[in-house]
Amino acid sequence: MDLQRLTDRLGGLAFGGDYNPEQWDARVWKEDDELMRRARVNLATVGVFSWALLEPEEGRYDFDWLDAHLDRLHANGVAVDLATPTASPPPWFTLAHPDALPVHPDGTRLTHGSRDAYCLTAPAYRRAARRIAAALAERYGDHPALALWHVHNEYATLCHCDHAAAAFRVWLRARHGSLDALNDAWGTTFWSQRYTSWEQVLPPRATQWHHNPGQRLDYSRFWSDETLAAYREQRDAIRAHSDRPVTTNLMLPGYQNLDLWAFGREVDLVSVNHYPGAPGVDAAAHAAFDADRARSIAGGAPWLLMESGTNTVYAEGRVLPKEPGDILRHSLAHIARGSEGALFFQWRQSRAGAEQWHSAMVPHAGPDSRIFREVTATGEAVARLGELAGSTVRAEVAVLHDSDAWWAMTVDGLPSPELDYYAALRRAHRALWDAGRTVDFAHPGQDLSRYRLVIAPTLFLLSDVSAHNLRSYVAGGGTLLVQHFSGVVDENLRSRLGGYPAAPLRETLGIRSEEYRPLRRHEVITLSDGSTASSWSESLRTEGAEALAAYTHGPLDGSPALTRHAFGSGHGWYLSTRLDDAGYAALVERLLTEAGTAPDLPGLPPGVEAVTRHAPDGRAWHLLLNHRPEAVPLPQPCHDLLTGTTLGELPPDGCAVLRAR
Ligand code: GAL
Repeated sequence: MDLQRLTDRLGGLAFGGDYNPEQWDARVWKEDDELMRRARVNLATVGVFSWALLEPEEGRYDFDWLDAHLDRLHANGVAVDLATPTASPPPWFTLAHPDALPVHPDGTRLTHGSRDAYCLTAPAYRRAARRIAAALAERYGDHPALALWHVHNEYATLCHCDHAAAAFRVWLRARHGSLDALNDAWGTTFWSQRYTSWEQVLPPRATQWHHNPGQRLDYSRFWSDETLAAYREQRDAIRAHSDRPVTTNLMLPGYQNLDLWAFGREVDLVSVNHYPGAPGVDAAAHAAFDADRARSIAGGAPWLLMESGTNTVYAEGRVLPKEPGDILRHSLAHIARGSEGALFFQWRQSRAGAEQWHSAMVPHAGPDSRIFREVTATGEAVARLGELAGSTVRAEVAVLHDSDAWWAMTVDGLPSPELDYYAALRRAHRALWDAGRTVDFAHPGQDLSRYRLVIAPTLFLLSDVSAHNLRSYVAGGGTLLVQHFSGVVDENLRSRLGGYPAAPLRETLGIRSEEYRPLRRHEVITLSDGSTASSWSESLRTEGAEALAAYTHGPLDGSPALTRHAFGSGHGWYLSTRLDDAGYAALVERLLTEAGTAPDLPGLPPGVEAVTRHAPDGRAWHLLLNHRPEAVPLPQPCHDLLTGTTLGELPPDGCAVLRAR
């Protein structure tokens, strides 16, 4: 079931997208065949939204129409990524099983008429999902067109219904063992929240004031586990009939409903969707951020960009267009970071229905359009990169990324609304991206010894196991930067006592933080080295560390703000405030230098992104993206796979894939 078979099957990297032919007629299908050939499409995701056609009434399947499309695609040389349609149950399903509709925290039960109108914990939904997955696998498990299975679409929904409450209690019993242990973990003695029977425990539904933080955190964990269980049921139903790899397309949003690490372990191939949240160079930085996350949750293995938009930037409450050339540039940004291809949502822009204004490979204007011309050029470019299949990316720097820490930061009542996990992660990655380094994300409990530098932008919740792991990393020679509000609570959100951060990390960093002093909105402070900071400050004292910058204001005047501690063979740094962008960039540059890191391809100016993919046999390729408006000379002339020529310089805003070895 390995990925090798997928790329062998495709004869190189994947290019294509979601194909929803049921929206069109035979004349259009004929044109699709021709246009797909022109655009070098070799993989199409079929069936994502097809439940109503595949199972027009409960238990009665109609596969004839899908047979015809799969046969047609196969005859046209296009392999199929076959989806289970379970993200969009048809109206008959919800009318037959109203208890399977999702319920908001305030008790509002939703209705059908959109998509994703199901509760993942409803037994009727789970049965129906398993059944249709099995029926599809039985029919198409060894269809010659089939290359990949695509379970569901962007698992992300939440629910607070009675089914969810019952499942939550089962999960809580398994986690805590006894009600006493749950009461203790959640600190229910306070506010008189003590539970005396399991039936009293609820999902965090709408309530009067703050939710109990432990209840909130455990609900997030439970929901992710439940979602994974729903995925596994479909995957296993498929595996009973088919040996093709199974994936689910993960969304990587700015909120977190899923433990991405756990999903990474359960899929045969990590696949993700990416829609930039800002235009221009910020879109490129966002693509790099998501691509690095995808590769990291895949454990460094090749992964796949399952969806992106040809002309879609979701920003400012609008669907903004991409810049000319971005279809290729954004595709290469993902391929550079380990994607085995570039796929889009969707092949042909819908004429009607809910996603009429989402861009596509063939826009409403038809093939005589800038978009289709760029799609074709991108398809040709991707086809020239076949030799990259199976190669991987290496990073010397990691940013810590932990679902528990993220969920923990979403509870009510934290000391500042500016404590934002996603923003902290993006900022650390952006500083490293601007500095031209390739970055992995890593779990704080995993082996970190291969990284020269590890940054923990925020680790509010830190388990004992992870704290000891960070200690061993530094003791063994690593450089670790920990940023403010880290190591504060244990796995159950109970505060660490005796000073922050948690004991083993405190020794590693050689500091003790006694009091958190969030700053006022818009308040800016100056540190002794001249840098400015905002948002947060701490009453910190050194216990072995050296102070590199101190506070210069109010009660903290003269006390350390930034510290470095020699510990074992490594160094633990602590930053107790939020530096401004220039100060943070300078700190990151300094850490990169002191930790002895180097860019993948040295000698390029800022604004040129360069990532190297390595094959197991020693071959390597540099993928370059020039974000500068002028040409940039290359350190040495190299053969470029995109143009088939020897390139001495990168054109303005241009890209190249250089054979390095
Ligand atoms: C994705 C989703 C697709 C489609 C697309 C539109 O997030 O998976 O089904 O809705 O967005 O851009």
